[in-house]
Amino acid sequence: MSKMIQLRDGPEAFREIETPALVLDRRILERNLARMGHHLRRLGVALRPHAKTAKSIDVLRLALAGQPGGITVSTLREAEYFFGQGVQDILYAVGIAPVKMAHAAALIRRGCRLSLILDSPEAISILQQASAREQVQFPVLIELDVDGHRAGVQPDSAALLELARAISGGSGVELRGVMTHAGDSYQCRSQSQLRAMAERERAGAVLAATRLRTAGHAAPVVSVGSTPTATFATDLSGVTEVRVGVYMFNDLVMAGLGVCAIADIALSVLVSVIGHQAERGWIITDGGWMALSRDRGTSSQPVDQGYGIVLDVEGSVSPDDLVVVSTNQEHGIVARRDGKPLPLTRYPVGSSLRILPNHACATAAQHSCYHVIDSDRFESVATWRRVNGW
Ligand SMILES: Cc1ncc(COP(=O)(O)O)c(C=O)c1O
Repeated sequence: MSKMIQLRDGPEAFREIETPALVLDRRILERNLARMGHHLRRLGVALRPHAKTAKSIDVLRLALAGQPGGITVSTLREAEYFFGQGVQDILYAVGIAPVKMAHAAALIRRGCRLSLILDSPEAISILQQASAREQVQFPVLIELDVDGHRAGVQPDSAALLELARAISGGSGVELRGVMTHAGDSYQCRSQSQLRAMAERERAGAVLAATRLRTAGHAAPVVSVGSTPTATFATDLSGVTEVRVGVYMFNDLVMAGLGVCAIADIALSVLVSVIGHQAERGWIITDGGWMALSRDRGTSSQPVDQGYGIVLDVEGSVSPDDLVVVSTNQEHGIVARRDGKPLPLTRYPVGSSLRILPNHACATAAQHSCYHVIDSDRFESVATWRRVNGW
């Protein structure tokens, strides 16, 4: 639910937001959404946005504009919240545990078209037992491992067909297809590697779906997605939907991968300067790791951005090339990247800065709402709530 807040326009508006605070630039968000939407429409595939980054109905409504309407979630709390906001078709894209079955069943009983994922015979038993107990049918996708990143069965494995047989041999679980997430795309180091990873994700998912169909199983859904692979995909033949999340906001990890430019990062943390250590060239802010997260995702990239790049309040990268070099719980230490002395008078105590995040999902998760601004007109537009936790 959005609420208008009464703020003066222009950079002064920031003076009225208590820091640290999460700032979302709606212009950049809308540009990012339009770019991905256009790209996937051109490739002829549906978008099933992943709500794990934004966790906000206001953001998801913008992301879903012109789309069929299904979303992906990473917690049942998100599923509960988005269903309550009118989203009917929800894929919970994390392996299920027995303690969550009653919750999942309750959502389905209330009319939510909730799909689950699995990659083991044990998970099938858990679902079949829960189905008998709860008297609901669970639609599922088999999770595939296309890149050694995390969970899933290999697309060319015997295990894939064994899982399908175990599903169709019992009752209470309905096989809907396959899904995969090429999370190792975050480790790619060139555009050609990213293009190859996108094709590997597509080809693995399509191979698995074809094998299932050839063996007589239904596999109408072929679901893939990560922001890097979706961005660099040039052909998605055989894929029915793409799940992407971080593309909405982008972040320094995406910029380091070449997925976006720094100017495409919609999210920042507004912080206040609370002190200096002149001899060390440090600016002390109230943006510690509680506000920025401890994510250091750029540390393994060619350019390490510390805990984030520093912008002025209007959103321009500081001419002094400032980064957050270290954090405590409620303190951030900002210094020049090259360690040279800093004209501290440019950053007086009480002034504001904005920090671009390494990993948008992790930084946003530290906050309960977005302060939405419109950078073109430099207006504060609204506050949008997030649904954190489980
Ligand atoms: C299962 C699954 N699908 C899709 C995504 C979306 O990836 P990204 O945030 O890179 O768009 C994620 C992200 O972690 C994921 O875990």
